[in-house]
Amino acid sequence: MDFPDTALLNSRFGSPGKIACRAGENGLPIIAIANGSGSCEISLYGGHVLSYRPAGHLPVLFMSKAARFEPGHPIRGGIPVCWPWFGPHPTAPALPMHGFARILPWSLAATDYTSRSTEIRLVLTDSEQTHAWWPHRFHLTLRVALENALKVELTTRNSDKEPFTFTEALHSYFTVRQIMDVTVRGLEGATYSDKVTGTDGHLQETPVVVRQEVDRVYENTETECVIDDAGLGRQIVVAKQGSRTTVVWNPWIAKSKRMPDFGDEEYTRMICVETANDTGNAVTLDPGESHTLAAVLSADMKAEA
Ligand code: BG6
Repeated sequence: MDFPDTALLNSRFGSPGKIACRAGENGLPIIAIANGSGSCEISLYGGHVLSYRPAGHLPVLFMSKAARFEPGHPIRGGIPVCWPWFGPHPTAPALPMHGFARILPWSLAATDYTSRSTEIRLVLTDSEQTHAWWPHRFHLTLRVALENALKVELTTRNSDKEPFTFTEALHSYFTVRQIMDVTVRGLEGATYSDKVTGTDGHLQETPVVVRQEVDRVYENTETECVIDDAGLGRQIVVAKQGSRTTVVWNPWIAKSKRMPDFGDEEYTRMICVETANDTGNAVTLDPGESHTLAAVLSADMKAEA
């Protein structure tokens, strides 16, 4: 897998104290951005946000200590980009889980900063390799803007001659102190399909708590979610635009043990609340059309904390 030289990236896109490129594990290029609002790191491999730390806070995103930074493997933590399908491919389960965007090298297209915002834009376009998995021409842009919140926008443009349909997710992993003390608000009244039991049509009556493996797809949900981390006295707000599906995932004990790139106990310190468009909310674009999926992440300590 070819990546540009980080010295070249720095001379073209870097800005001292604000935007810097470095070679991470196995030489995978990482862009670090920082300003008075916080800091964030993004990997060109996968177009993957690795970390986000608002000023004065502990890290917001979870990254497994066992994560692999190796071409061909998705990175366990941060914000994997699931695209152009979410989960297993609907008809060809041997194709990469959650699509291919998270296991391909993206290009750094632009960086910019103002007094209030530092941002970068990465691009992924179709290639012979992607045509082997998905027969369409596309132009994908990931914009990451560090402001008083972290804005992550995934824009899909159909550069093909035919319409295409895709599903997608910004599969964000959040750090919590202790999962038993966490509730997720904002999904009350929504219905979900339960991927653990393979059943549909469940009503979410109360805020979500995790006491076992949770893998739920809530369709037709456009409101923000609040991860209430009572252990840390912190609330993480996951707001979104262009997303009609929310996915909540925690692998719990047995599945954690089955995942080679995830520690056996790490399920106690994370939860995924994913900004998505899955099955019933799949997106169809005509040639030349674009669609943007956006997640806006912020953290607040509770007044009494
Ligand atoms: C979630 C899915 O979004 O991602 C789960 O709903 C899946 O079913 C999880 O296990 C992790 O997927 P992966 O491919 O990163 O291990």
